[in-house]
Parts: sequence; structure tokens; C-alpha cells
Amino acid sequence: MNIARFSRIGFILAAAGSAVGLGNIWKFPYMTGENGGGAFVLIYLLTITFIGLSLFISEVLIGKVSRNDAVSAFEDLAPKNKGLWKYAGFMAFTGMIILSFYLIVIGWIFKYIFISISALPTSVDDAGAMFGGMVTTDVLTQFVFFNVAFFITIFIVTKGIKGGIEKVNLFLMPLLIFILLGLFFYATTLKGFPLALDFLFLPDWTKVTNTTILQAVGHAFFTLSLGMGTIMTYAASLPKDSNIVKASASVAILDTAIALIAGMVIFSFMFNAGAEPAGGAGLVFISLPPVFADFGALGNIFAVAFFVALGFAGITSAVSIIEPTTLYMTNRFKYSRKKALIILGVITYTLGMMAMFSNIKEYASYVTFNGKGFFDILDFSSSSILLPLGGIAIAVFVGFVMQKERVYSVLKDYMSDRMFNVWYFSVRYITPIAVSVVMINKLFF
Ligand code: TRP
Repeated sequence: MNIARFSRIGFILAAAGSAVGLGNIWKFPYMTGENGGGAFVLIYLLTITFIGLSLFISEVLIGKVSRNDAVSAFEDLAPKNKGLWKYAGFMAFTGMIILSFYLIVIGWIFKYIFISISALPTSVDDAGAMFGGMVTTDVLTQFVFFNVAFFITIFIVTKGIKGGIEKVNLFLMPLLIFILLGLFFYATTLKGFPLALDFLFLPDWTKVTNTTILQAVGHAFFTLSLGMGTIMTYAASLPKDSNIVKASASVAILDTAIALIAGMVIFSFMFNAGAEPAGGAGLVFISLPPVFADFGALGNIFAVAFFVALGFAGITSAVSIIEPTTLYMTNRFKYSRKKALIILGVITYTLGMMAMFSNIKEYASYVTFNGKGFFDILDFSSSSILLPLGGIAIAVFVGFVMQKERVYSVLKDYMSDRMFNVWYFSVRYITPIAVSVVMINKLFF
């Protein structure tokens, strides 16, 4: 089929735009907080290094070789059992689950753009009360901003991702990094900074459970956008002669660096204010606003810029979450983008509303199952179950189903033979075995 190609830098930008999102700045710090710090971070870093990067290259490889949507790619490339492998491609539908709660969080961020203009809370306690009030009682605000996030995302994807999104990324990613670095340098001067470093980088193994490990592994998939065909789908648009290994490594390094910087910033501020690290999903909304407030009017400007940039980082990720299924439907059923997105949008919207109401005190009981709210169920089932499963399928496919010569012929120009062997070993054995062991351990023991 005929898929448009990115410009050379376009792929890296789009892939980085996908990877760098709420996962880095919202989710990573709060998961680290909930899971006791250093040990979680270490497992996450190990997973990125030994599994994440190999899988990233595998997804790029499948996309680049097939130049097709995520479902058709498996059919095209499987030498036999095409009908069966096609089902691996359906992991792309995990995207609806992720997107639904993702858009709620982008909605919160949009709301905080307005709060930043004039109503920044001045203490961590006030900030906590403000955030908690919004999430657990304020249906109207969350509904309105969810819709804004939803329609912006759908609109961009209707237009095709290659036009607008490349340009938005080009401007806003540097802005986000710039603000984050500014906050970082400020944070290094605080007495909370060494405490933050200890918390993030000294592993306390007593806090590690099966759940910690599974969440760290799952988050490594989530943050690199792996395990559901996003990277595969973007790679289908790669220009002919891109160095896919270098591109993959750059994205992984950038993504990890941003998460770690965000973590150091947020925990420095939290510890400086004497607050608990296990703040939950509100961490970024609670730790940063009081710091911005300290700076007076300048702080308002920084706060607006920060939440705008974070909102866009979220949108560039949101777009990448829904693109794989959109491409699949337009490609296979010849639907227009609009028609595909109406169908996908209805599913996402419904799940999103259920997730939103699961946080609202009055209605939570209707959308709570087995003691777990729907928001948490969507988050947990996608990151900790579906993405790892998708990752295993991709690894097995590249490692055992595709012919080795074919895989080698694509990668040989960008890797030494020794590096190829290490990568191939990781894809064949380390990734499927390690991820399976982690999942089985958690789910059955
Ligand atoms: N990686 C993004 C983040 O960290 C989220 C994301 C985008 C994603 N595309 C994905 C997660 C595909 C899983 C799968 O915020």
C-alpha cells in the first residue's frame, strides 16, 4: 500500500513526540512514589536498557520492512500461519483503553493552564485539596476538558499526522525541555534535592514486591510507546535510508532523561515541603503549582508555559495511540479517516466517561469492580498486562517467525555483528522469558 513517508527528522520527532508524554512527567514520578523509589527506578532502567530498546528496534523493523498497518504487517511478514499472526496485530486496539484515561489526564492539564494564570495554590496542602476536589467532585470541569482533549486529538488524526504534528513537536518539545531544565537547576539548590536523589537512586529492596516489578516493566513499555503497534505504525512511514538503530536509541535516551529529570524536580519540591512521596496520581499537580506560586507573576508565566508544553506533549502521544487502529481501518476496510475515527472515538469516549465517573465520589460505586475503580482498571490492564503481552508477541515474531537473514539484512548496515547478536539474543530469549516470568509471578503467585 502507499503510505506517506516522514522526512528524515520527522520520524525521530514523531517517535519522540509519542514516547515523551504524560508517562514521563505525570506517571513516572507518581509510580516511583507509590512503589517506594529507587528499586522501582532501577528495575525500570534495566527494563528500558535490556528489553525496551531491543523491542523498540523490533517494532521499527516490522514497520519498516512491511510498510503496512500493524495488523497487515504481521500477515505480510509471517511465512506461514498468517491468519493466526494477524491476531498479534489486534494489540493495536489496546490503544482505545490507554487513550480513554490518557485524555482525562490531558484534560486535567488543560484545566491547570487556567489555574496557572491566576489561581495557583500556595502550599502543598492547598494544592492537594484543589486537585483532589477537582478529580473527586468536579464533573463539569473534567467533562469539559476531557472533551477539549478528545476533539483536539481526533481532529489532528483526521488530518493525518504528518502535517501538523511534526511542526507542533518541533516547537513545543524544546520548550518543555527548557522549562524542565530551568526547574531542575532551581531544584538543585534546595535542601530537598539530596533527599530526592536518595529516594530515586538508592534502592530499598524491602519495598519490592511482584507488583512493583510488574509495574516497572509495564511502565517501561508504556513510556516508550511499545507493545501495541504505535512505533511500528510510525516506522511504516520511515524514509528509505534512515539509521533505525541510532534513531531508536536517541528516542529511548531522550525519553528516559526527561522522566528522570521530572522525577528529580518533583521529589525535590515535595521533600522540600516536607510532603509524602506517595502522593498518587495528583503528584505533578500538587508538587509544582506551589513552587510556581512562590515566584509571583513570573511564576504564573512559567506555570502556564509548563502546562501548555505538557499538554502538547500529551497530545502528540495521544495522537500516536489512536493512529495504529485508524491506519488499520482506513487501509483494510477503505474507511475514510473520519469514519474510522468516529467508530474508534465512540469506544474511547465511552471508556473515558466511565473512567472519569469512577473517580467521582457520588458515582464511583457504579464503575468500581472488585474494589478497583474503572480508571485504575484501564490503566493497570493496559500497562501491566496488554502492553507486555504485545511486547512478547513482537519479540517472538521477530526472533523466531521472521527469517533471520531477512532481519539481519535490514540491520547489518546499522549494527556491528556482535551488537546484532546481542540484540537478537535479547529479542529471542531475554525479552519473552523475562516478561513472561514477571507476569506469571504477579498474576498467579
Ligand atoms: N509513551 C507515551 C507516554 O509516555 C504514551 C503512549 C503513546 C503510549 N503511545 C503509546 C503508551 C503506545 C503505550 C502504547 O506518555
